[in-house]
Order: sequence, then structure tokens, then C-alpha cells
Amino acid sequence: MAILSVENRAGGVAKTTTATALGLGLARKLAPQGGKALIIDLDPQGDSAATMLGLRPGSRCVSNLLDGRTDLRTAVKQNVMSADREGEDGPSRPGLFVLPASDRLVEAKTGMVEEVGREVQRLINSGRTDYHNFPTIASLFVQRLSPLTKIFDFIILDCPPTLDAFQQAVHAFADAAVVPTQLDFKSARATFKHAQGIITDQKNGIECHVAYLVPVMVDPRLNLTQAMMERFQKEGYARRMAPPIPRSVRVSEAPARGGQTILEYEPSHPASVAYQQLIDMVATDYGIGEPNYA
Ligand SMILES: Nc1ncnc2c1ncn2[C@@H]1O[C@H](COP(=O)(O)OP(=O)(O)OP(=O)(O)O)[C@@H](O)[C@H]1O
Ligand SMILES: [Mg+2]
Repeated sequence: MAILSVENRAGGVAKTTTATALGLGLARKLAPQGGKALIIDLDPQGDSAATMLGLRPGSRCVSNLLDGRTDLRTAVKQNVMSADREGEDGPSRPGLFVLPASDRLVEAKTGMVEEVGREVQRLINSGRTDYHNFPTIASLFVQRLSPLTKIFDFIILDCPPTLDAFQQAVHAFADAAVVPTQLDFKSARATFKHAQGIITDQKNGIECHVAYLVPVMVDPRLNLTQAMMERFQKEGYARRMAPPIPRSVRVSEAPARGGQTILEYEPSHPASVAYQQLIDMVATDYGIGEPNYA
């Protein structure tokens, strides 16, 4: 069982594209042995992972698990959806599931802040001073979502650019981060800052690290791209540098063509080959299935 968060404070750097490709690729490796992968959308701007996969999430939302109002069995049943669309002439995706997000996630976040505040007040009033045992947003987040680790073999968190109250929570829940980054100067700066944020969380005792840096929308003709790749590699920013995902209009077209990932839309496209290499890398690192190049 492993949990990876796909994150970067820079917006529009293919986080959701990478999360869905990774989720699909890992599910393909897990499904033959009866395993399951789950993508959890944490973007309150709304169901991006689900819609990219051509799903209609309706009222399903991760907030229904986070608010703790429904028992987990019921909440999972009501909110987790299969991404397999074979029955409706869509792509076959055995073993892939999505827990969508909606704008109700903002309310859930506020509710959790208030809940933690009330509980901390109660503990202080009762004379407790073992502050390190007091609940936090992170501990509540982990407590409410960790039962999912018993149902799924791999969990991928598709993060929004701004995690605010959930930043430490995501890093407490995930084993490691996948950070897609563009290689132009501005995006690279955002990525350096993002990695610094993870290092700060590590200093606060949270075990999370950047496992994979994924250069996305790469145009190898640009000298700047080459220079940035070299800098990232030299500075050892991540444990692993993923193969660069080339920029291509085919990648952005895929979700619009019946809600497909590039792996389904054009399996032999260089972007699919690069994503497959990332999937194989993750699968090998976490001991899942056999390599399966497209
Ligand atoms: N390799 C690529 N080549 C060209 N376009 C791409 C590539 N990867 C992603 N895109 C496009 O870039 C846009 C942003 O991608 P995506 O939504 O995955 O980014 P994001 O980081 O999740 O954004 P946000 O920060 O809003 O959550 C989308 O239109 C997507 O199709
Ligand atoms: Mg996104």
C-alpha cells in the first residue's frame, strides 16, 4: 500500500493530467491480481480528475468522508466511483476508482478547523497539557481517510495549487510527492519553493519527500529547458527524475475526446511512452506488477 500526492503550488502544470495517467497505469498493473487504485481529488474547484476521465461525479465528494458525519462504509459506497466506462462504450479501466471533489470541500475544511478548535479547547479545559497528542487538521484528515488504505492498494492525491489548511495533512497522509514541473524560469522557481515547503514539513516531523520530479510540457528544442533539467538533476531536488513528458496538443485534446487519458487516446504517442516510463518507475519502486511498455 502506498500513497503519492501529485502536487505543485504552480497552477496548470499537468498535476491532474499526471495524476490520472499514473492512476490508470497503476490500476492496469494492479487489476490482474485483483488490486485497486484510487485517485482522490482534493481540488475544490471541482471534479477535475473525474471529468478528465469522462466521469459524472454528481454529488459525490471527498468532503463526505472528511466531515465524519457518515459511517465510513456508507460514505465510501456513496462517494467512491469506478472509472471503468466499458459498459457505456468508453475506455475499460478495471481497478481504477475516483473519489471526486466539489466546492463543498471548502466547507468541510472550515468545519474541520472548527472541530479541531473545539476539541483542543475541551482538552485544555479538562487540564490536559500533553499538547503533542492534541488533534490537528492533519491528524483528523489522516484519521478520516486512512480506512481507505485497507480497501485500495495505491492512492493518488490530485492536489490543487493551494492546499492551505490541508498542506500538512496531505504530507502527513502521503508517503511521498510527485511534483510535475514546467522548466521555464517562473515555473521552476515555484517548484523550488514548493520543495522548500515539503522540507519545512519534514522539519516539523512529517515524513514526506519529493520522490519524483516530472518535467512536463517539455520542448526539447529550448536551450532553457535543457539548462533547467540539468539544474534540477544537479541539485538533487527529488529522489528520482522522471522522463520528460513532451508538450503536445494531443495530451490536451485527450480529455475532450470522450474523457480519455493520453495513454488511451494515443498509446504510442511520445507523451504516453514517457508517462508509461514514469508508471513503470513507480511500480518498480513500490513493487507493483511487471513493467509493461506501451
Ligand atoms: N504534455 C502536455 N502537453 C500539452 N498540454 C498539456 C500537457 N499536459 C497537460 N496539458 C494541458 O495543460 C492544462 C493544464 O493541465 P492540468 O489540468 O493537468 O494541470 P493542473 O496542474 O492540474 O492544473 P491546476 O493547477 O488548475 O489543478 C490542461 O489543458 C492539459 O490538457
Ligand atoms: Mg488540477
